[in-house]
Amino acid sequence: MTRFIQEIDRSHSCGALREADEGAEVVLFGWVASRRDLGGCVFVDLRDREGVTQVVFDPQASGEAYGLAGQIRPEWVVGLQGKVRSRGANANKRMPTGGIEVLATRLEVFNRSAVPPFLLEDGVDAREELRLQYRYLDLRRPEVTRRILMRHRITQRARRHLADAGFLEIETPCMVKYTPGGARNFLVPSRLNPGQVYALAESPQIFKQLFMVAGFDRYYQIARCFRDEDLRGDRQPEFTQIDVEMSFAAPRHIYEVVEGLMAAIFEEALGVKLARPFQRMTWAEAMGRFGSDKPDLRFGLELVDLTEIVRRHDGGGVGMLKDALASGGVIKALCLPADKAPSRSEVDKLEVKVKELGGLGLARARLAADGGWTQSPMGKSVSPAMRVEINRAAGAGEGAVLLLQFGSADKVHSVLGGLRVHLGEKLGLVDKIRWELLWVTDFPLFERAEDTGAVVASHHPFTSPLPEDVDKLLSEPLACRAQAYDLVLNGVEAGGGSIRIHDSEVQAKVFKVLGISDEEAREKFSFLLQALQFGAPPHGGLALGLDRLVMLLTGGESIRDVIAFPKTARGQCLMSGAPSGVSDQQLADLHLARKG
Ligand code: AMO
Repeated sequence: MTRFIQEIDRSHSCGALREADEGAEVVLFGWVASRRDLGGCVFVDLRDREGVTQVVFDPQASGEAYGLAGQIRPEWVVGLQGKVRSRGANANKRMPTGGIEVLATRLEVFNRSAVPPFLLEDGVDAREELRLQYRYLDLRRPEVTRRILMRHRITQRARRHLADAGFLEIETPCMVKYTPGGARNFLVPSRLNPGQVYALAESPQIFKQLFMVAGFDRYYQIARCFRDEDLRGDRQPEFTQIDVEMSFAAPRHIYEVVEGLMAAIFEEALGVKLARPFQRMTWAEAMGRFGSDKPDLRFGLELVDLTEIVRRHDGGGVGMLKDALASGGVIKALCLPADKAPSRSEVDKLEVKVKELGGLGLARARLAADGGWTQSPMGKSVSPAMRVEINRAAGAGEGAVLLLQFGSADKVHSVLGGLRVHLGEKLGLVDKIRWELLWVTDFPLFERAEDTGAVVASHHPFTSPLPEDVDKLLSEPLACRAQAYDLVLNGVEAGGGSIRIHDSEVQAKVFKVLGISDEEAREKFSFLLQALQFGAPPHGGLALGLDRLVMLLTGGESIRDVIAFPKTARGQCLMSGAPSGVSDQQLADLHLARKG
């Protein structure tokens, strides 16, 4: 008898057949998704990565195949031959192949399967830990397979688009010299160089700049990056960037390239045409209006700035507001209209949220018909004149609730920005079928480190200041803005980049602000600084987080959903058991000793 694979080839995938194929003789290979014995026939749903096809085993068509079909179990791997027939009135409209079924004439079992530890179908309620432990089975579930297939298509489209636009795909090393700043690095001890380590590259940043010095003009890479950070839903210790760098570029050139790339990706993934150019907003405006450097523009609920009103009224009789002003603070509010206004106990719950976000408390007021403030610690003391102005500025009418924060601008913004996002979800304000892309521009060049108070680079020390701020570098560093930009998609930072410094004088000033001596700079960034002296062209770039993009485009909730073999929040691979212990001998080979 002729045998599958050796002699008979697959004719179609399990997702390919349609009514137009009626009558065709086909050969399918795949996994048994389910088997039902009904009315003297056996019905099998056969699955492969492309889809599911219903197969019927009828003793009239083949007694042998029917007999064997009675024995097969879920996840067995089989090959079959048969004829496509229409399901007519029994068509299953929810399945792309639902208009047809295959009447099998031959069946071969390639392999049996142990009973899987959870059902391999969409919407299973198996624990994520179990699914990650058997990730190769989880990947068989259609919704997971679909995301991985989409990731493939997005990656391919990005490659094609960038190559067509003249970008060269060049790889950079993953094992690199440790350079300080930026994310915490994973370190790899060197066996051949006792006591020395490589760092796993947190990004190809320095190398892609060297490509510009080398004259490659336009570079891209689907680059794996490694960062030893605290993990959450949109962060993994190893993740992938679509990494881009180009010479002779101002921000507008980068925007143009990236907008073209995003448009191609959206078209590929969703068939959606993006409106271009994307919106732009300075960092200062984004923080002021939305309390966030990655505002979700799918809903309003903007922060209302009350600082000037309160100043004009000298605190308006409210001591805590007056004190906030006196210490250089700002006063801002969110206003929820009557139909969205939370109850008193819900506001108390919001106060708990505010404390999680780092706020001290949540000042509030509910508006009475006459505009008076009820359920408010400020209700009795606030001057009517200031109250009227605040109500007007916030657009607050009867039944509205005002939620106030006061204090340093940073704190007020981060608390209200976080509360805004929380309320957007909780109150159903977010339009889930909208795509809002936004460039956030002109980030601060420097910031104060939270722990030490030292001036540090907001992005990295090679980020170029805005040309108009270069003169202020030494005199007012914290007022300098950077030629740095983030691409924000529905409130998620999808990418970020900057124009780099190519002028050694400007670079020297930046190091001075950062308190890095010439010698220290040479030691830390030696090869980059050296390279920049040999005719570095003006250049800049950006990296998109591929995992985040695919997550957003496939409606995933975590980037774990779109990474074939992701790690848990503790950085573990539950399937392979990484990280794992090592023997004393292995440590000795690496010139390392066990502590204690
Ligand atoms: P940045 O550090 O902003 O820039 O990273 C660029 C984008 O990568 C994604 N990303 C992550 N995704 C998953 N897990 C992580 N731990 C993680 N960290 C970052 C984000 C982010 O926007 N070299 C610069 C780029 C440049 O300046 O050209 C860089 O790496 O989507």
